[in-house]
Amino acid sequence: MILNTELEYKGNLFPSQIVSYEKHLNVLSFTTENGAVLQVTVRRDSILRFRFTTTGIFENDFSYAITKYASRGYNLLEVTENDKNYIITTTKLICHISKLDLRTSIYDAIDKSLICEDELGFHWEESYEFGGNVVKMSKTAQPGESYYGLGDKPVDNNLKGKRFENWVTDSYAYGRNTDPIYKTIPFYTALHNKKSYGIFFDNTFRSFFDFCHERRNITSFWAQGGEMNYYFIYGPEMSDVVVNYTDLTGKPHQLPALWTLGYHQCKWSYYPESNVKEITKKFRDLKIPCDAIYLDIDYMEGFRCFTWSEEYFPNPKRMVKELADDGFKTIVIIDPGIKIDMDYSVFREGLEKDYFCKRADGPYMKGKVWPGECYFPDFTNPEVREWWANLFQELVEDIGVKGVWNDMNEPAVMDVPGKTFPNDVRHDYDGNQCSHRKAHNVYGMQMARATYQGLKKFSYPKRPFVITRAAYSGTQRYTSSWTGDNIATWDHLTIANLQAQRMCMSGFSFIGSDIGGFAEQPNGELYARWIQLGIFHPFCRTHSSGDHGDQEPWAFGTAITDVVRKFIELRYQLLPYLYTAFWRYAEEGIPILKSLVLYDQHDPQTHYRNDEFVFGEKILACPITAPNQTGRRLYIPRGKWYNFWSDEVVEGGTEQWVDADLDSMPIFVKEGAIIPKYPIQQYVGEKTIDELLLDVYYKEGKETSEVYEDATDGYDYIKGRYSLRTFKLSGKKKELIIQQHKSGKFITTYKTFKLNLHGLPFKISKVEIDNVIIPFKDLELNGDNTLVLTKEFSELHIMA
Ligand code: GLC
Repeated sequence: MILNTELEYKGNLFPSQIVSYEKHLNVLSFTTENGAVLQVTVRRDSILRFRFTTTGIFENDFSYAITKYASRGYNLLEVTENDKNYIITTTKLICHISKLDLRTSIYDAIDKSLICEDELGFHWEESYEFGGNVVKMSKTAQPGESYYGLGDKPVDNNLKGKRFENWVTDSYAYGRNTDPIYKTIPFYTALHNKKSYGIFFDNTFRSFFDFCHERRNITSFWAQGGEMNYYFIYGPEMSDVVVNYTDLTGKPHQLPALWTLGYHQCKWSYYPESNVKEITKKFRDLKIPCDAIYLDIDYMEGFRCFTWSEEYFPNPKRMVKELADDGFKTIVIIDPGIKIDMDYSVFREGLEKDYFCKRADGPYMKGKVWPGECYFPDFTNPEVREWWANLFQELVEDIGVKGVWNDMNEPAVMDVPGKTFPNDVRHDYDGNQCSHRKAHNVYGMQMARATYQGLKKFSYPKRPFVITRAAYSGTQRYTSSWTGDNIATWDHLTIANLQAQRMCMSGFSFIGSDIGGFAEQPNGELYARWIQLGIFHPFCRTHSSGDHGDQEPWAFGTAITDVVRKFIELRYQLLPYLYTAFWRYAEEGIPILKSLVLYDQHDPQTHYRNDEFVFGEKILACPITAPNQTGRRLYIPRGKWYNFWSDEVVEGGTEQWVDADLDSMPIFVKEGAIIPKYPIQQYVGEKTIDELLLDVYYKEGKETSEVYEDATDGYDYIKGRYSLRTFKLSGKKKELIIQQHKSGKFITTYKTFKLNLHGLPFKISKVEIDNVIIPFKDLELNGDNTLVLTKEFSELHIMA
């Protein structure tokens, strides 16, 4: 527990009884006798914001996390009172606020069950060390309550029994349970009695969450400064909690270009140019699909951002063009530390314009990173962000770089105990000047945002692509991310799986790990198993520190290369499926990966599962995370599922053994699903898609599937030039009906679908399209249950 000071312990202070209540539209204020104020804002029927002050004065209401595009509005807001409580009622919630001490209890408006209740509720400690308060909240855990989310924590899915800290930290070679690491996402979901809610504590100071760790039935969170300011988000479906949190903190501002969902190859570092070319050529020679190649810090001149080493890369523009001609997009790293060097224009400009962070007593914040001593732009200043964005003009517009990788933006500082800035460093915080205590957790986010603005501007009319290591809630609006410097061990493969799932249920789906591990070197088996997991992660990149050997798909002998190729090819085949899942995420905030608890919270078996996850809406995947395995046990969620490899149908709701030699892994497809596939391409756009393969998994009953497509890049889709197909499958004993509904103005290049019917329980004797019987030869139907038909159909009947 945090202590006040060593000198004096004043203890917790509490609000006293309510003396006045005011309501302005949807904002309700309750003032206590001792001057504390609780402001409750009804944002939606299912979202309440709670904000407290201990002095009667609120800070300027500013948040980097909350997006201006967040939905607002509710159907009902009623405030009543009885002897003990004020009672706020919406269509979803009933919230009691105790007149005695501001403690709240929240109930489901429909069945009146208790969802979340304050224990001590809001309380605070005066901090002599920092000035201001340590703000605290504690709630009573309900029987059987579980907790999930909280961004990037390398621990099992269910957080119950653990305590965490949120302070963005450079964590080279972190391990299971290392805390904190690179990201701060102070949002968790809770689940009890089949109902789920979430809490987003939008406070950027160093914060802590305790999930029944200190006391077994108490969940609490607190921060070392700022306001107690949190959003209560009700489900009762966990997926709705996550969707609403994502609505609040933002969805990606645009879809990623389709190529960004391809395979990426990275290493610290590929240089000189000849080495880069050797690598890219090998991909093409060995026919291993790849869309992106990365340049790590060694491409620069003495690690100066926005420069190129003349020795290693004498003509970057030519090289980038040659790579592009071969289908490779070049992505370069850019760190925040700007080398102190008066002969370096970026440094000089930053200095002249007064854009670098300063210590409280005046001097610049000086810290060591790769280039040696550096100053650091204050990315929380909008003017600095604009300057930074414009620095990308040459890289993007002139040289042709397609993506930028922001690293070390915690910000990482070498050779100092805290690995970052001291607390006193000053920040603009968009006009809300503050110290690093408040700005630390958003520094990397604001850097990535500035980079995104540059990429967006100069990549136009193409879409921007950014990757960041550090993040705060809301960073998903601007950029993708990876999980930092992991290690090439089997346990880290398990951890990578957990991290990606957890980030997805924390509103941040564009995530992946360094496939194979960053530090140390995997053997071929580990690398192959990791690729198998990695192709199901929204961001799919191999990266390694390079000091322990090579980590390209061919580095472990041909048998492994073949396995790796097979799975990367599968990724490319599934691109329209993944793109559709991404579109759902960008449009509605639905996570691309769903941990089993998120997929089916009503099945208690899912509450402690870690390894299995649903990719998109219909595919279940589970990595093999130990050596020498020929399969594994896994829990298959309720319903019927097809084994992807054998088409065998299994009934879920139980744990089962599934075979998976090294060239395989457990993958299942939900019955009734229609999975779109593209042909294998060496990179996105290599081929014109002239037929869309639809894998149709028969089901007796109904199921809906979607396929979203557009020009794969650019912004025309926003103007309606997209193609969304909704397929309604309805299977009967002797008939399979598929109805198609199409919307959007985009015309796909292909004219036909090739249907591959899985598990059809009858022999086809008649096919009707839009009420017309079609001869078998026109369908290329020849007994193997594949048929080719026009993409324009509305209703297809396949009959016994
Ligand atoms: C950091 C990054 C890593 C990168 C290295 C050199 O350790 O996390 O991905 O390769 O710096 O830039």
